[in-house]
Amino acid sequence: MKKLIAGNWKMNGSLAANDALVRALVKGMEGDAGCSVAVCVPAPYLAQVQMLRAGSALELGAQDVSQHSEGAYTGEVSAAMLKEFGVRYTIVGHSERRQYHCETDALVAEKARAALAAGITPIVCVGETLAEREAGRTEEIVKRQLAAVIHANGHCISEIIVAYEPVWAIGTGKTATPGEAQQVHAVLRAQLKAATGHADRVHILYGGSMNAANAASLLAQPDIDGGLVGGASLKAADFLQIVRAAR
Ligand code: 13P
Repeated sequence: MKKLIAGNWKMNGSLAANDALVRALVKGMEGDAGCSVAVCVPAPYLAQVQMLRAGSALELGAQDVSQHSEGAYTGEVSAAMLKEFGVRYTIVGHSERRQYHCETDALVAEKARAALAAGITPIVCVGETLAEREAGRTEEIVKRQLAAVIHANGHCISEIIVAYEPVWAIGTGKTATPGEAQQVHAVLRAQLKAATGHADRVHILYGGSMNAANAASLLAQPDIDGGLVGGASLKAADFLQIVRAAR
């Protein structure tokens, strides 16, 4: 299975900065990248990045999606709208949305369902806080978060992507060790296997201070199928180095 490296730009970028970044990525990916590569960009920049990446293997992602299909939901963006702009993936349930926008497990599951219904692959984020890890609750937390998505999406579950993002590792420069990450990935793998009931392998990405220096050792773990990269995805050279580590 090809690995997937997805950049999450979060609320960063400008027309000028995006232009330079995406052009550099497209150039750096010429030939066979050897893995799948995507950038998840702020909604206003989808059209720009869609044009810049045309003809390349770089894929487009969004950072969130509404659980509703259309209607009076001011400020929301539907999965069908994302689809019209060539979006292949959307992040759902990022810890920043769970934390700052009060997104619950049930809401995240609905968002994953809305994405799947429009033919977009949801990248479902799960992960424990530092307090939860220190209390020995890591497994319980990630299993509960994933169970909600499995429950709401039944037979489509093999179509999702999961991203394990320990909250304490996000933007802190404090990465989970390859062994710590692998341990949680193995738990998620077992849960997904039990839910799908067959051999379909769901991608499980690691996210949280992944960078050019630590990517190779994380990606060498048997159950780490790629990365969801924040800060390091804003620098073309760093992001391309992570892409190369995923070959
Ligand atoms: P950093 O790579 O900046 O830690 O962010 C990880 C993340 O949240 C990706 O979604």
